Formats: sequence, C-alpha cells, structure tokens
Amino acid sequence: MTKVSPSLLSADFGRLNQDVEMVNRSEAALLHLDVMDGRFVPNISFGFPVIEAVSRVSVKPLDVHLMIVEPDRWVSRVRDTGAAIMNVHAEACTHLHRTVQAIRAAGMKAAVTLNPATPVGCLEEIVADLDMVLLMSVNPGFGGQKFIERTVEKTRKLKKLIADSGSHAEIEIDGGVNLETGRRLVEAGADILVAGSYVFGAEDPEAVIAGLAAL
Ligand code: DX5
Ligand code: ZN
Repeated sequence: MTKVSPSLLSADFGRLNQDVEMVNRSEAALLHLDVMDGRFVPNISFGFPVIEAVSRVSVKPLDVHLMIVEPDRWVSRVRDTGAAIMNVHAEACTHLHRTVQAIRAAGMKAAVTLNPATPVGCLEEIVADLDMVLLMSVNPGFGGQKFIERTVEKTRKLKKLIADSGSHAEIEIDGGVNLETGRRLVEAGADILVAGSYVFGAEDPEAVIAGLAAL
C-alpha cells in the first residue's frame, strides 16, 4: 500500500466542503495543502483561514506544503491550524536545522521539500532529524504540470541517503503524479504520492485515490 496525499489545490474552491468530504471517505492517508505567497513561487493560493476551515472538516491529517519565503516565521500559526506535517522548502530556509527543530518542538512532523534542481545531498547533515522529505517533480507553483523524469532516479538516491543515515524519513513526491509515474516512483522508493489534477480532474476521484493507494 502506498500513502496518498490528494492536493486540494486542484479542488473546486466553491465547494471545498464536498471535496474535503470526498477525501474523508477515500483511502487517502493525508490531505495536502499548498500555501503560496507570490514570492517564493510565482503564484498565490490560500492561507490560514482556508487551512483552518479545512482542518475543521478533514478527518485526514493535514500535510501542509509551504511554498513561501521565511517559513520559520509561521511555525506556531501552522501548528495552531491542527496541521500534522509542516513542509518547508530547503531553498527558503537560511537556518534549516533551527527551523526543523522548531517544527518538531511545536509537535508537528518535520518535512523538508526540495525543488527539482536541488540535489538530495544537501540533506546529508539533517536527514536523520526529518520525518519526511518531499521531492518536487515539477517546479512548484502550479497544478497540472508535466512530470520531470529525473525525479525517479533522484528518489533512488534519496532512498539510499535515508538508509545510509539511519533516518526514518518517509519519501513524498509532488507534481505530475498519475498511475504511470506513480508506479515508477513507488518502485524507486516513494512512500507517499501527492496528486492534484489527477485526482480532482477525474470522474471518480475516490477510485483514482484507491488506484494510487494500491501501487
Ligand atoms: C505544485 C504543488 C502541488 C500541486 C500538484 O506546486 O506543490 O501539490 O497541487 O499538482 P499536480 O498533481 O496536478 O501536478
Ligand atoms: Zn504541494
């Protein structure tokens, strides 16, 4: 079984309740929330009021992916939403070690996200302290982009780095995930698949989630 984290970015924001309830009924392990600030990425999505509203309806643990500058400023605000996992980009953290410790001290799982061009080797000194590493398989900022093929090999490299460090970190992949890319990612060592447009663009989103979970 593979853990699936449907990305609400591709949901219908006019009927968010129904879409969260669909995820509640589904085999999804987590619910992925993409926060964008228009600075770290060239797009703006949603912020704390939306996360708080979703948190009240969701029975799945919230997997909050912050595509923002200076994410360390928001650790307690994210914790207060009830989020289970706080994902920060390595590229956005000058003092990544301090930020990771702050996330854990706040009682959340600490996850570090890498952009496609950022090598996994940059995590060598911190991976033992992480609960999750999120590899971007598209450039962050938008749903529905084409999967970057090199991510499959990068997943293998990350799997080895995690094993060599005695880390318990899970590997999550985000961007362009479907049944075909998902299968290859799971073979390479992915534990969690994020999927936005593939899930919410489907006629039967629950069946799509079940299909990914069966990989
Ligand atoms: C992109 C976000 C993703 C996005 C994925 O920056 O981090 O979570 O929703 O969308 P798909 O699955 O459509 O590539
Ligand atoms: Zn994301």
